Amino acid sequence: MNTKILSTTEYDIALAGEILRSGGLVAFPTETVYGLGANALDEDAVRRIYVAKGRPSDNPLIVHIARKEDIVPLVTEVTPMAKALMDAFFPAPLTIILPKSDAVSDVVSGGLNTVAVRMPGNEIARRVIRAAGVPIAAPSANTSGLPSPTKAEYVIDDMMGRIDAVIDGGDCQYGVESTVLTLATDTPTILRPGAITKEMLEQVIGAVNVAPAVLEGMAENETAASPGMKYKHYSPNAKVMVVKGDSRQYRDFVNTKKDAYALCFEEDDVAIPHIVYGKQDDDLAQAKNLFDALRRLDKMGARRVYAHIPHIDGVGMAVYNRLIRAAAFCVIDLTKPFAIGLTGQTGAGKGYVAERLQARGFNIIDCDSVVRDIYDTDADLVQSLAAAFGTDVVDNGRVNRSRLAQIVFEDREKLATLNAMVHPAVMNACRKMARFPCVLDAPQLFEADAQQDCYIVVSVLADENTRLQRIIDRDGIDEASARRRMSSQYSRQYFLEHSDYVIYNDGGDIERQIDDILAEIW
Ligand code: TXA
Ligand code: MG
Repeated sequence: MNTKILSTTEYDIALAGEILRSGGLVAFPTETVYGLGANALDEDAVRRIYVAKGRPSDNPLIVHIARKEDIVPLVTEVTPMAKALMDAFFPAPLTIILPKSDAVSDVVSGGLNTVAVRMPGNEIARRVIRAAGVPIAAPSANTSGLPSPTKAEYVIDDMMGRIDAVIDGGDCQYGVESTVLTLATDTPTILRPGAITKEMLEQVIGAVNVAPAVLEGMAENETAASPGMKYKHYSPNAKVMVVKGDSRQYRDFVNTKKDAYALCFEEDDVAIPHIVYGKQDDDLAQAKNLFDALRRLDKMGARRVYAHIPHIDGVGMAVYNRLIRAAAFCVIDLTKPFAIGLTGQTGAGKGYVAERLQARGFNIIDCDSVVRDIYDTDADLVQSLAAAFGTDVVDNGRVNRSRLAQIVFEDREKLATLNAMVHPAVMNACRKMARFPCVLDAPQLFEADAQQDCYIVVSVLADENTRLQRIIDRDGIDEASARRRMSSQYSRQYFLEHSDYVIYNDGGDIERQIDDILAEIW
């Protein structure tokens, strides 16, 4: 197919209207992003949209109208709330969802009994719809999964030869797609944030909910918080990671990266190749530049992109929502004291993994030695241990560790009391010692509830016989004691369920497993 490139002259707009009326596909500018239009009343034409985009057929399309009253035949009823919103905002970057009439085909609604309707604010878009004389179904004019196009150039990149025409109407004003608001729920709910913000909507219709998927967006049936393994959208070819932290933390982090690009704010004085997508507090600029920046990064050949996290107020919610999807939900959290919480089964070789992380530039805090240290030096702790377990657990102001071990050995209640006293003291000491980037090497990480202080948790596991032999060799104890030590720990299943990543240390390539994890989340 030969894709015509049209201008915004009367002649070209009339031609676009003609193409649409006769079942063709025309991409046109809107104030949000470019849309890929077809006659919404022509099922065959609408099917062609799904083919051209490679879009799953159960993802419904927005029907675009040029006049408010054109919504009437598309819905069962224009509710008072819908009317209030249309009067306040239309034409606008706002899409409202209402129960659909029979005029709207299942092909448009993706089989749902509702329809999404929007009257675009862009004059060229409305001229095209008027020229066609029919409502226009139009998704964003990108290949499904890629960033939405904010310039005709990007539509051409994706759609050349696949559609009848593209109207070049320059850059889009907002750069992120419309706010999608469903009125088909008890409380109106934002399904996709955009330039018409929650606050703006609430001024007109009262309370508005935000669908949980907008900010969290965990894939269905996903339970564990494992960055990098989730549904991806708006993504460039480059791997995008969102970085949470202030300007200094962000800069210090990205400046250590090789062969990487930054997608940053004007204030973030970074030293690696980068694109600025606005000032830190200018969410409109960020929205306008985001998709364009993602496409440009691909053209620059970026393989890894570190994007500084936007705030989520106002239009920032739309920016954040698109960016975390482009990043497949990988958010590197530099605000946690520890980058990695390293734990695992005794004898699995956690210490070796810690060493290999140290060789990669991480600062290691060894909790075992912190415990020994505070037993010797933390006078408050020593005093409370004496109060709880008797004065013979203290020698010369220091905790007598073997005496204490004897007391809690095989007395679960006493052990729990001990842990409740020691773990907070250890964690306090560790937090004070933490120097970025830090690994917390903690055999009792879960017992101490330290996960919340770690960006990710990595457990080192190995099969039972391997661990048994290692413990016997390492600690010079007999098999029965080694087994007792092993059985006092959480199960393999527990570690699997509570860790973001697992390293298997029974003969596999450790370096490679570490590199793979770091490549994914760091
Ligand atoms: O700004 C925009 O809205 C752009 C321009 C071209 O108007 N269009 C756009 O369309 O972004 P699209 O197809 O890329 O996104 C439409 C979104 C999808 O997330 C879709 O699932 C949702 O709206 N949607 C459409 N109809 C729906 C319905 N009946 N119920 C729930 N969600 C619906
Ligand atoms: Mg889209």
